[in-house]
Amino acid sequence: MRPAAAQGPAAARRAAAPDTRAPLRVTVLVLGGTSEARALAARLAGQPGVRVISSLAGRVRDPAIPAGEVRVGGFGGAAGLADWTRAEGVDAVVDATHPFAETISAHAVAACARTGLPLLRLTRPGWQPQPGDDWHQAGSLAEAATILPSLGQRVFLTTGRQGLSAFAAPPSAALAELWFLIRCVDPPSGAMPANREVLLARGPYTRDAEHTLMRRFAIDVLVTKNSGGSLTEGKLAAARDLGIPVVVVRRPDPSAAPATYGVDDAVSWVRGCAREPGARVPGARVPGARVPGARVPDGPGPARSAGE
Ligand SMILES: NC(=O)c1ccc[n+]([C@@H]2O[C@H](COP(=O)([O-])OP(=O)(O)OC[C@H]3O[C@@H](n4cnc5c(N)ncnc54)[C@H](OP(=O)(O)O)[C@@H]3O)[C@@H](O)[C@H]2O)c1
Repeated sequence: MRPAAAQGPAAARRAAAPDTRAPLRVTVLVLGGTSEARALAARLAGQPGVRVISSLAGRVRDPAIPAGEVRVGGFGGAAGLADWTRAEGVDAVVDATHPFAETISAHAVAACARTGLPLLRLTRPGWQPQPGDDWHQAGSLAEAATILPSLGQRVFLTTGRQGLSAFAAPPSAALAELWFLIRCVDPPSGAMPANREVLLARGPYTRDAEHTLMRRFAIDVLVTKNSGGSLTEGKLAAARDLGIPVVVVRRPDPSAAPATYGVDDAVSWVRGCAREPGARVPGARVPGARVPGARVPDGPGPARSAGE
């Protein structure tokens, strides 16, 4: 595009004048690693006056890259995150990380308390058992491992590559007898079950494909976190079809931040955090956002992540 001065005096005057139609100025940090975080970044990037910076942990080798600015890697704890937001002139933080990414969510709460920045939790509903399901709830991966030997012999383990040591024998001789199909995005390392095959894959996964996979490997028990999301729930439907029990690891306690399931709500909230150029405003409240510490109810709703 030609510079305004080269397009004539009127264009140059327009370029020099403040844009009173778009007074919005907001810099938002989106803590990401999920597809709902990417959906939010895609909605915000390119909006006049909005600077969106997505943050990825850097765990995945070839991550899906959100729209807008992106930074990768840890901040160095809550204090590092607080310092980083100050240095970047951040006005608002959206924690759109995975429901099981407990540490970064706690750091977001602590950093925003320290800096006074508004914080919104954008998350997704958990899965609910359906008629015909045979679910066995576990409070942790370790508890899931203790339940497994009573349920099956050939395990489809879809809890990601972190925490596989919980399924490495010991703790029990019975666990050591089991065979595991371990599905994750990147190759796992560290302790893991000895009898195993590792399947590297990235969702989404359809019900039919999951059904075929489970039959091919003669799976008789499935293990999953209650991550929620339509893109990876095909395994639950396939397990139901096949009459396979499912060990479901419950979610950790929710973040102590106001929360929403809706990307639309999050966009409105970010816009409500906008400041006049040069001024800082306290955080806006989003209609429907839940009070700090409230548990977001489980139930059906939009689900967007292909992460397990
Ligand atoms: N946990 C899961 O099952 C799962 C599944 C799918 C996707 N993910 C995504 O993968 C990432 C890591 O998950 P996790 O469970 O390992 O996290 P975590 O245990 O909650 O966080 C561990 C540390 O990783 C860094 N970190 C995490 N997320 C970050 C982000 N978005 N940007 C910058 N630093 C981040 C922080 O390091 P510092 O303390 O140095 O800041 C944090 O203290 C998350 O962003 C999450 O959304 C997780």
